[in-house]
Amino acid sequence: MCGIVGGAGKVDFRSYLIGGLKTLDYRGYDSAGLAYRKDGKVNLFKTVGKVEDLDNITPKFTDATMGIAHTRWATHGEPSDTNAHPHFSMHRKVYLVHNGVVENFRALRTKLKFNGYEFVTQTDTEVIANLLEEQYLLLKDPFKAIEKVITMVEGSFACAIMFSDLPELYFMKRQSPLLIGLGKDGNFMASDAVPMMKLCDKFIEVEEDSYGCITQNTYVLMKNGQEIQPNFVVRKAEECTFDKGDYPHFMLKEIEEGPKVIKRLLDNYYDGTSFTFDPKIIECIKEADDVVFLACGTSYYASLLGVEFMHYLGKRSESYIASEWAYYPNLTAKNPLFILISQSGETADLIACQKYINDNGLPNIAITNTRGSTIYRNATFALLLYAGLEVAVAATKSYNAQVTMLAMLTSACSSTEHGVRNIRKLIEAIEDVINRKDEIHELAKKMTQAKDAFFVGRGYDSLAALECALKLKEISYIHAESYAGGELKHGPIALIEKGTPVIGLVSDSISAAALRNNLEELRSRGADIYVISTESLFDKKDDFYTKDVKPYLAAVVKVVFGQYLSYYVSLEKGLPIDKPRNLAKSVTVQ
Ligand code: M6R
Repeated sequence: MCGIVGGAGKVDFRSYLIGGLKTLDYRGYDSAGLAYRKDGKVNLFKTVGKVEDLDNITPKFTDATMGIAHTRWATHGEPSDTNAHPHFSMHRKVYLVHNGVVENFRALRTKLKFNGYEFVTQTDTEVIANLLEEQYLLLKDPFKAIEKVITMVEGSFACAIMFSDLPELYFMKRQSPLLIGLGKDGNFMASDAVPMMKLCDKFIEVEEDSYGCITQNTYVLMKNGQEIQPNFVVRKAEECTFDKGDYPHFMLKEIEEGPKVIKRLLDNYYDGTSFTFDPKIIECIKEADDVVFLACGTSYYASLLGVEFMHYLGKRSESYIASEWAYYPNLTAKNPLFILISQSGETADLIACQKYINDNGLPNIAITNTRGSTIYRNATFALLLYAGLEVAVAATKSYNAQVTMLAMLTSACSSTEHGVRNIRKLIEAIEDVINRKDEIHELAKKMTQAKDAFFVGRGYDSLAALECALKLKEISYIHAESYAGGELKHGPIALIEKGTPVIGLVSDSISAAALRNNLEELRSRGADIYVISTESLFDKKDDFYTKDVKPYLAAVVKVVFGQYLSYYVSLEKGLPIDKPRNLAKSVTVQ
């Protein structure tokens, strides 16, 4: 969702701010803006639309000494030039950009209005700007003003703040991500490391409820009125590479990185003889009476396989959608272990769950692709996916990595070495799908006109079907649902019309015949059936097959098929594949 870029120093601020926003635009946004300080004066430009539109309206300035920029994903107030960030206070003493949500903004606005403040936007952010100005004029000290405002604001915020009469760039942070980058030509801040990668080699994670300021050569970190020491982090280039190479879309590149990502997982967690997970993590899983997964979207669908894997270990296990559990937490299990799965590590609903879990002193393992993210930092144990930056809004390689990680953890808990052999076969099966992607492209061409589509499967295939349907709906805008084969006759079959595409996933010999029967029932009611089987279950009338792997890993191969299918349907329809409408890569508001 929203993205922040800022800095103080001697750099080309125009290209840093606009270039930085471009690297964050994969998160999803509807307006963009920037402000820079030059010759002691603040200049402000903002617009609804794309970063390219901002680029067009921003003059070719040089010699700025500091700047802030933002991409906004509207929450309070429609997308408009006025509601775009940066926002400024009534007397223009404060300019700021903000990620997060001010939950008590109505009450604060009423109070500020009573004190004479007027508002020009519908945003919650303008409240912070006016509060900061009010406190700054009162206390005559920017740190004291920020400290006071932190106590007044309920909700989440990462803010980059310019006081119009001060040469430092200030910040404050709670719950929303913010990193400080230290470079040779200046110091910087951003929602993640990617915009700063070319300028910085060292990063500082900004602590919860802390604040501070940067200049070209200095930085100060504060919390509760005291200076605090930085928590340095290193970001590897591979975690931040923002380049689609020769690929037309990030999504295609990321699907095809699947095998490499799984190999990298093995490199990081298997030494050729045994798994190298922290023994405390394995103990923690083994000792838990109930393993509770929490996640959203694609990560939630990956967690459903985790539940099955835990059942294989003889454990009680269930998975909850984080946005539900956050409001209806359930702590009835005697000795629970929570496993939180998140590509970004910044999903607000999951952060809310983790806070509740931590407040109750319970153990949690984060499985995430983002080192240093909020969920990574606040977990009892964290496991990195090493999948590399995932830019396309549609999660692809991260799903493969999440499921593989869960399979590896399960193997480590049951000390079965054949787990690794199975994962190596999984890599080959994905490579085979990649080599035969043109066949999937041909299938996709038959579905471009569909209004609705259905994925059906049994067993692990029914879990793969969930993720395939999510992929298709989010990037092709075709209404897609998934069902366990046996459920069709209990209602959904009423939806079948002549020509409705139904994609049947058939990977498991136990249920293959039953699923094929279900598909025939749909065919006789007019559905266009596409059967995606496996090499050993292949029937010559089937439309595609994937190589044989263990049924518990077959879901990953079928999902790679679903990723390609969705990609090609969207390509044929000429849709914005990497940035589908209304969606954001990281959902950082609840
Ligand atoms: O970063 P997370 O894994 O926590 O994100 C969760 C969902 O927002 C995400 O998986 C979403 O469903 C995907 N964009 C779907 O492709």
